[in-house]
Amino acid sequence: MQQKQSQEVVLFYNSLLSAERAGVEVLSGLLHETEDNNLKIILGRFMRDEGMNCQIFSTLIKNAGEEPGKKTGDFVQKVKGLEKIEAKLALLIKGQEWVAKQIRKNRALFIYGSEAMLMESIKIQHEENVDYLKQLFSIS
Ligand SMILES: [Fe+2]
Repeated sequence: MQQKQSQEVVLFYNSLLSAERAGVEVLSGLLHETEDNNLKIILGRFMRDEGMNCQIFSTLIKNAGEEPGKKTGDFVQKVKGLEKIEAKLALLIKGQEWVAKQIRKNRALFIYGSEAMLMESIKIQHEENVDYLKQLFSIS
């Protein structure tokens, strides 16, 4: 049986959709800035995951009977405002942590088990990205 999705969950999905869109743009920029082939491989993977997440959020919003928003998060401008790639990557870690935290904080909104599983998967994906980047740059 269909349950009515709350307006709150649609707002939440739209907020993360704009964040993931920003992620794609930021990662695309970083891919062009680095010469490090290992970093290129991992950033490419992150970028594809962010693109996949955009599709997931758009689908969930449409399933709730709404149209996905067109915004891109201001994270893009924050990263562009930094000069060095190291600072950009440090901000990328914070951005990835922010997404995982938002999902943890809003778990009560997911009324379908399948949506809760997708959100949990996106949360874990962002935590893995944080762990990987911290290990790469020896940040504890
Ligand atoms: Fe993301």
